[in-house]
Amino acid sequence: MARTKGSESKTIVKKTKKVNTQKVLFVSGEAAPFIRSGGLGDVAGALPKALKAVDVETRVILPLYSEIPVKYTQTMKFLGSSYVHLGWRNQYLGIFETTANGITYYFIDNEYYFKRRGLYGHYDDAERFTFFCKAVLETLLVIDFEPDIIHCNDWHTALVPVFLDVFYRSCEKLRRVKTLFTIHNIEFQGKFDISLASDICGLPYDKLSLVEYSGCTNFMKGAIECSNAVNTVSPTYSKEILEPFYSYGLESILHDREYKLSGILNGLDTEVYDPETDTSLFCNYNLDSVQNKKVNKEAVCRMLNLTYDENKPMLSIVSRLTTQKGLDLILQVAEELLSGDIQLVILGSGDWKFENALKNLETRYGAKLRVIIQFSKDLASKLYGASDIFLMPSRFEPCGLSQMIAMRYGAVPVVRETGGLKDSVKQFDAKTGTGTGFVFKEYNANEMLTVIWNAIDTYNNDKETWNKIVANAMTEKLDWSKSALQYKKLYEKIISQ
Ligand code: GLC
Repeated sequence: MARTKGSESKTIVKKTKKVNTQKVLFVSGEAAPFIRSGGLGDVAGALPKALKAVDVETRVILPLYSEIPVKYTQTMKFLGSSYVHLGWRNQYLGIFETTANGITYYFIDNEYYFKRRGLYGHYDDAERFTFFCKAVLETLLVIDFEPDIIHCNDWHTALVPVFLDVFYRSCEKLRRVKTLFTIHNIEFQGKFDISLASDICGLPYDKLSLVEYSGCTNFMKGAIECSNAVNTVSPTYSKEILEPFYSYGLESILHDREYKLSGILNGLDTEVYDPETDTSLFCNYNLDSVQNKKVNKEAVCRMLNLTYDENKPMLSIVSRLTTQKGLDLILQVAEELLSGDIQLVILGSGDWKFENALKNLETRYGAKLRVIIQFSKDLASKLYGASDIFLMPSRFEPCGLSQMIAMRYGAVPVVRETGGLKDSVKQFDAKTGTGTGFVFKEYNANEMLTVIWNAIDTYNNDKETWNKIVANAMTEKLDWSKSALQYKKLYEKIISQ
């Protein structure tokens, strides 16, 4: 008998790959599609879906705000109730559940804390979110879900790792659970009066130092101390926050805990942000039909009462109007910029000083400038669809979402090289034909203006290069798949510690 290769005596042992599904409870102050006030809500909406695709079972927990639309609340199922001790207080906790996009969401009900206008910004936010953090742990004692990791996000959730270590490690169900804390913006730390740590958090005397920092109770500092790992929403930001310019006072504790600090760039929900299907656009398009951006530009001009000229570059800003977003740089050079043959549309709301200054400018440059003081997702889409150049000169930017949406919609971003802007937008290089936008380094208005002129000049005089940049931007891989794998790896690392 002819011997075939390898037919000797080898027994082939088929290795069945053990799929080890990790279980994660994602804790957030907001989550799309239910309720969002900013980028954090988008992350809480998109990341769990992307994690599911890489075999990580993620469930999300957030407060049951009265502003969550009825179409969602009517699908919620009551799971049970309990009580939460906060110092001398004993507060009711109701637990609801629903699913969206195949993900389970839990909601913390307490009308005293969450039947309010808006999500944040109330006089008793410290107490509201201390309640939320403790309620998350109490909920885990009630529901039928045993996570390997509790993944907390920003200061509203920062006391979860602290309470877990101080009060809940003796519960069998919570003995081994690990924690990850993600910093979406270090500017907001949950900083309150020193007395709060014992009065509301109810921490015993020997544990107060966990949350004390520079004479305050600092929730975020507590999370940095107690979490197994800490990450930020871009690799660059995780390095930047070690410097006083970016750290808002937390640099020394971060230096001490640098060994557990890392960064993972957020992705973009490319199903939600897609110029091919976005119903807010006047005309849908993809890379092959990118000339349809002109139809959107014309319609936006008509809507805003601006004269349409297909060859005139339309610049846009869609942003919170705050110092973080570099509005002071824009104001410093706005008149010079508006002396050029351009149109500029600004959409957003925020600090009244920026709102006023921009509105004032509009009265003088009415033919070229529109300032819309609003937060409108619909209008935002229309502007991404219509504009040629998108400005985002942030002073700091943990990740940033708008520059990614702009790229996907073929509005070429001009950004400062910081945080997630640095990690997601690459300066176009004429030699290699690579790059997705225009980048400047220092937080300096003239440096910014030079780069904006450069972008405008390329748009006006070198259509071939311009089209290449637009194509690069529109085809850049921005979805969540890579980040989800990085989170999965980080979870694995934390679990194996
Ligand atoms: C915060 C940051 C922003 C980031 C978002 C989501 O809003 O300021 O840069 O994109 O969180 O992580």
